[in-house]
Amino acid sequence: MNMKKLISMVLVLACVFSMAACKSKDEGDKKEEGGEEKKTLVMATNAEFPPYEFHEGDDIVGIDAEMAAAVAEELGMDFRIEDMAFESIIPAVDSGKADIGVAGMTVNESRLKNVNFSDTYAKATQVIIVKEGSDITGPDDLTGKKIGVQLGTTGDIYASDIEDAQVEQYNKGFEAVQALTQEKIDAVVIDGEPAKEFVKDAEGLKILDEAFTEEEYAIAIAKDNEELLGQINDALASLKESGKLDEIVAKYIKSDAE
Ligand code: ARG
Repeated sequence: MNMKKLISMVLVLACVFSMAACKSKDEGDKKEEGGEEKKTLVMATNAEFPPYEFHEGDDIVGIDAEMAAAVAEELGMDFRIEDMAFESIIPAVDSGKADIGVAGMTVNESRLKNVNFSDTYAKATQVIIVKEGSDITGPDDLTGKKIGVQLGTTGDIYASDIEDAQVEQYNKGFEAVQALTQEKIDAVVIDGEPAKEFVKDAEGLKILDEAFTEEEYAIAIAKDNEELLGQINDALASLKESGKLDEIVAKYIKSDAE
């Protein structure tokens, strides 16, 4: 009898101690500054998506990276980026491993089941990249073709809806574009701005004029974090109002006129 009691007490104590250990580890994340705790805003992304997020040496730069850093600054928070597979971003946000998902992420119904989205910060399109001289001249010609996409993206979702199309899913958008260059596939469906970046660096590829869809990018936040949603929207509004967001965009997207 007593033994049982002792064991359960030990178990309770072990729990209490491990909880305390977890807590202090958590608090280790926050820096003390002027006696005040500074929270770190953790951004989950997939840095394979220029001009929104991409690697530059050891850094991750781009519109999303700078915008999120500016949001953190507005909120008086420290800032850190976690790079991961695109498909892992929503689970990371949902589970609290990251506070926000910022990845040129399109707002759509199925994602809204798992996360909240901030106000939108950019308009986007899905475009079709083909080889110069291709017989594909618009979305209707994609029927029955081999289409490359980045796994888990809206391009992937749309391509999968095309009749008789064979969809090849790549971990990086750039890999799909490479496969097109090597004529392993007939077309790539991907967001317009990354498409421009990838085509610029490739030989013999072009973007079709007719856009496939129109979409909007927003920041993903955990469903149970309504407070952060409000804070992010306020910070975004002030970045829009001050012209800071436009400034960041202009740094990475040169006008078509050049
Ligand atoms: N806009 C598309 C989507 O939301 C593609 C985003 C891909 N982003 C990235 N960082 N790889 O599905």
